[in-house]
Amino acid sequence: MNTALPPHLIAALSTIPTPAYVVDMAALKRNMATAEHIRTHAGCRILLATKAFALPAVFPLMRTSLDGTTASGIHEARLGREDFGKEVHVFSPAYTEDTLAELLLICDHIYFNSVDQVRRFLPAVRAAGQDRKVGIRINPGYSRATLGGNLYDPCSPRSRFGVLREDLEKLPWDDIDILHAHTLCESLHDGAIGLIEHLSREFGPFIRRVKAVNFGGGHFINKRGYDVEALIRAIRGFRDAFGVEIILEPGSGLVVDAGYLVATVLDVVHNETDVVIVDASAACHMPDVLEVPYTPPLFGAAEPGTLPCSCILAGNTCMTGDIIGDYSFAQPPKPGDRLVFGDMLQYSFVKNNTFNGTKLPDIGLLHEDGGYEVVKRFGYEEFRSRL
Ligand SMILES: Cc1ncc(COP(=O)(O)O)c(C=O)c1O
Repeated sequence: MNTALPPHLIAALSTIPTPAYVVDMAALKRNMATAEHIRTHAGCRILLATKAFALPAVFPLMRTSLDGTTASGIHEARLGREDFGKEVHVFSPAYTEDTLAELLLICDHIYFNSVDQVRRFLPAVRAAGQDRKVGIRINPGYSRATLGGNLYDPCSPRSRFGVLREDLEKLPWDDIDILHAHTLCESLHDGAIGLIEHLSREFGPFIRRVKAVNFGGGHFINKRGYDVEALIRAIRGFRDAFGVEIILEPGSGLVVDAGYLVATVLDVVHNETDVVIVDASAACHMPDVLEVPYTPPLFGAAEPGTLPCSCILAGNTCMTGDIIGDYSFAQPPKPGDRLVFGDMLQYSFVKNNTFNGTKLPDIGLLHEDGGYEVVKRFGYEEFRSRL
């Protein structure tokens, strides 16, 4: 767990209305510098997977270090085109005629998931212009997701993702530009290197038939312990061996440890243990805490039993299971205390919800000079408009 808060956050903390997702601009800049280093030295393209993180207010900063975005569907693709610019890639497990027609007006790279979908939609893609690139997602049979077990492993048994090895010969390879393999999840360099070596070993004849290979997302490039130089060497070796362009499309790895969720303690009740109710919710504001599941890092707290005061942190909704986690503190938390959860940018506000009519947290930027700026505030309308 985390220990001390960064000094510029300490200075701003009392001025931040809660709950709020806070982007640490200094940390985001550092993360972008890593991406830029990989792009330059590996000679690859890097896209932001907007499914993990999509915040137009920081797109100007990210745009200079990246080559574009990759979307999971029509609305993300439109966001990428209108707010980010540069290349817009899209992958969907299955397209309809209508969504594909819309996507062809927006995207320059379309990835298919099955032999049937490529065959069915290839004429429409070609009719849209030669600058549209066609990708095919394969299932390389390489399970290395380090999080959530089968939940986040696209190569798990009975997965719907990617053309299986035995079906690859059925693809119209002369019309395919990019081979796509997304198999990683929060993986360090050994995961990426393993994937790169696996594809080299097992899929060489198919790689030689395309112009580019997309190694998907899940590259945790800004996580402590990630050997960026090892990744660069592996990509360069692959490029040299096959003469193809390389694309990476991380989401989490671009924003890991670059933001917080700041909350306030509302009440403390006692039932066998102290249960601290906060103005943030696992169910509404940190859905991955329940889905993965995991216990988010909390600054100034430790695992239960480590510090003198152990307690449960819980959300302010009706759901009994809206539990953020078990922690321990040096002093018992009391109403009005600020709590700062770490690493809260990826898969947080892109997945949150207004269950119970719960207000969505602000989204704010903590600037390098310590200034805090709210870029988005939500109210009743976000709840009402979907009902
Ligand atoms: C096809 C594809 N690309 C990229 C990503 C981004 O992954 P991550 O945020 O783990 O880097 C995902 C995540 O599910 C994905 O499915």
